[in-house]
Amino acid sequence: MHSLNSLPVLPIVALRIDPWSSTTIKEYEKLFAYFGIKPFNEVLPELSELVEPHPLMRRGVVFGHRDFRNFLQVIKSGGKAAILTGLMPSGKMHLGHKMVIDQLVYYQKVMKAKVFVAIADVEAYAVRKKSRKEVIESALNEYIPNYLALGLDPEKTVIYFQSNYRPEYYRLIQLFSRKVTLAEMQAIYGQDLGPAKIMAALTQAADILHPYLNEFGGHDIVLVPVGADQDPHLRLARDIADRYSNDIRLGRPASTYHRLMTGLTGDKMSSSRPDSYIALTDPPEEAAKKVMRSLTGGRATAEEQRKLGGEPQKCPIFELNAYHLIPDDNELRKLYEDCVSGRILCGRCKKETAERLKEFLKEHQERLNSVKDLVKEVVKPPAF
Ligand code: TRP
Ligand code: SF4
Repeated sequence: MHSLNSLPVLPIVALRIDPWSSTTIKEYEKLFAYFGIKPFNEVLPELSELVEPHPLMRRGVVFGHRDFRNFLQVIKSGGKAAILTGLMPSGKMHLGHKMVIDQLVYYQKVMKAKVFVAIADVEAYAVRKKSRKEVIESALNEYIPNYLALGLDPEKTVIYFQSNYRPEYYRLIQLFSRKVTLAEMQAIYGQDLGPAKIMAALTQAADILHPYLNEFGGHDIVLVPVGADQDPHLRLARDIADRYSNDIRLGRPASTYHRLMTGLTGDKMSSSRPDSYIALTDPPEEAAKKVMRSLTGGRATAEEQRKLGGEPQKCPIFELNAYHLIPDDNELRKLYEDCVSGRILCGRCKKETAERLKEFLKEHQERLNSVKDLVKEVVKPPAF
């Protein structure tokens, strides 16, 4: 499907990922060559010996990793592994955000790993310039209920707000400030780096590294599943961890990277463009309409499509199915083949996708209703 085994010829220009921009990464392969991210398919066999890989992993959506083998080693030897990720609450939680929660649920179920989720309210305030109220409400009313409805087990999950956690976590941010220079941070994040971004980046490093501390469980490794745009933060956290040998017990985090979803409008699925995303709380009928309006990988005319076939690798509708709606590999393969051979045209394909999506949203929203009251029990919101 998504084949990553041929590296394109690389231009000589330096490439920088901006974790705060809203553009999408087009050539994931470059991340291997420039930043030393390793292809995820190289660790699939080792993972398969332990457990069945998640569909997102089998399908190359989770396409890259750093030190995933170290994580497997800890699991195999019965050590303590933590899984940690974070999300900025802003507006609606959509299918692009769901992918990372799906992975957390997977690790929690099949590996019994402890899960941490950072609510990145500090980052959203500082970098996205959202109001505190808006951010906190979006976390409490949108994000956290959706995490629970997607299957995160509240008993085995720590969900915390970056602005309302424990002193040992804040101490890390203060200590980290001495371990990096401005020039190093500029090399990672670019020249446009003021206090807000610096603070958000050091806070994220504390998110990533705090489960190593005894106060938070003394884990032997932290695995961070994230979208590919977050790798700069991992590079920073790894550099910082390497600089503590004796004084604090921190380790190098492992990480995995998934592709960011293409929006239905063709650009990145983004909270700032409602037509680009399917929110987990979209009324099913409305979501179905967004599907029917979506861009596809179809040809200009039906006749041409019958002759040449569609281009599923360019199609947001195919992505919806591959990332979320068709768990069965054979069924997905059939859709792929029907598309490339021109046996199915986009109209019918969209209708079938819309049906699957309506079904999913209906069930999800029923679960959402039943977990709403749990939110207060799983997280302590900041006072303001
Ligand atoms: N920066 C992430 C985002 O843009 C959110 C985040 C905060 C995060 N802390 C984290 C992600 C720790 C992974 C690990 O959504
Ligand atoms: Fe996309 Fe389906 Fe059209 Fe193929 S047939 S291009 S998968 S909408």
